[in-house]
Amino acid sequence: MLFPEYRPRRLRKNSSFRALIRETRLSAAQLVYPLFIMPGKNRKEEIISMPGVYRVTVDKLKKEAEECLALGINSVILFGLPEKKDAMGSGAHQKDGIIQTAIRELKKKVPEMLVITDVCLCEYTDHGHCGCIINKDVDNDATLEILAKTALSHVRAGADMVAPSDMMDGRIAEIRGALDENNFESVPIMSYAVKYASAFYGPFREAADCTPQFGDRRSYQMDPANSREALREATLDVDEGADILMVKPAVAYLDIIAKLKEEFDLPIAAYHVSGEYAMIKAAAEKGWIDGDRVMAETLLSIRRAGTDIIITYFAKDMAKILKQ
Ligand code: PBG
Repeated sequence: MLFPEYRPRRLRKNSSFRALIRETRLSAAQLVYPLFIMPGKNRKEEIISMPGVYRVTVDKLKKEAEECLALGINSVILFGLPEKKDAMGSGAHQKDGIIQTAIRELKKKVPEMLVITDVCLCEYTDHGHCGCIINKDVDNDATLEILAKTALSHVRAGADMVAPSDMMDGRIAEIRGALDENNFESVPIMSYAVKYASAFYGPFREAADCTPQFGDRRSYQMDPANSREALREATLDVDEGADILMVKPAVAYLDIIAKLKEEFDLPIAAYHVSGEYAMIKAAAEKGWIDGDRVMAETLLSIRRAGTDIIITYFAKDMAKILKQ
């Protein structure tokens, strides 16, 4: 069919037609809102490079969660800022650690909220790397046990799902094993399966105070130049027992999302990361773009590429617009 017989504009004529043939939709239930939890009481502080995003103390979590639920957002992912850090990241798996306390508070006060936890050591190590250091290098196999302990401590505190973001080899199998051994076989794992060594994480590292004190994360996070490697990483995680596969960051990696959607039948998640949020906010603040429209178009595009789930600092802003 060619012009003039076929005229695509016929179906774009008005908003009813456009809504009728719309292929991709966004819904608040697909959005996950990240929460940063800090020690102390009754405090809420804005993250400078992420306007509108805050670090909050545990007692503020109930209000945060209720606000999300009222907007139709049913899931949050938690990041902790511990009081103390050490070389082994031991604060990550303490029974009364910042995250474990936050999980218990949320599950007690707002039980219907789905609580996902980021499993990683970088917020808990004094050197800021995602694993422990042996002979000046992030030691893969020594880190696995600590990660499994961390995931288990989250689940024991009541987490509904764990999301390992460390990028150590073999961590999904190790965590799955630890959960199963402790009768948590029903708790799923959302793997940061394809996580790139990205400059887009800059504002997060300020937010969570986890900038590496030496070197960088390129010996464990992926090279942005690679896409076939993404399939190998995802295949490993599927074989090791992942329930959901995540790609991170999102917008610069839409091709990777599309590939994973094609290759795997597990749900696909994307993390629209801090730098992606900050760029939109900054340009909108300057009046150079329409922030709300760019946000909506961006999140829709991440869905169109193939994601089922989007983790985004925009979750509440987007949900407010969806509600209108
Ligand atoms: C922990 C972790 C990071 C992010 C999520 N989990 C930081 C990193 O890997 O450097 C980044 C999220 C964001 O930028 O919004 N490893």
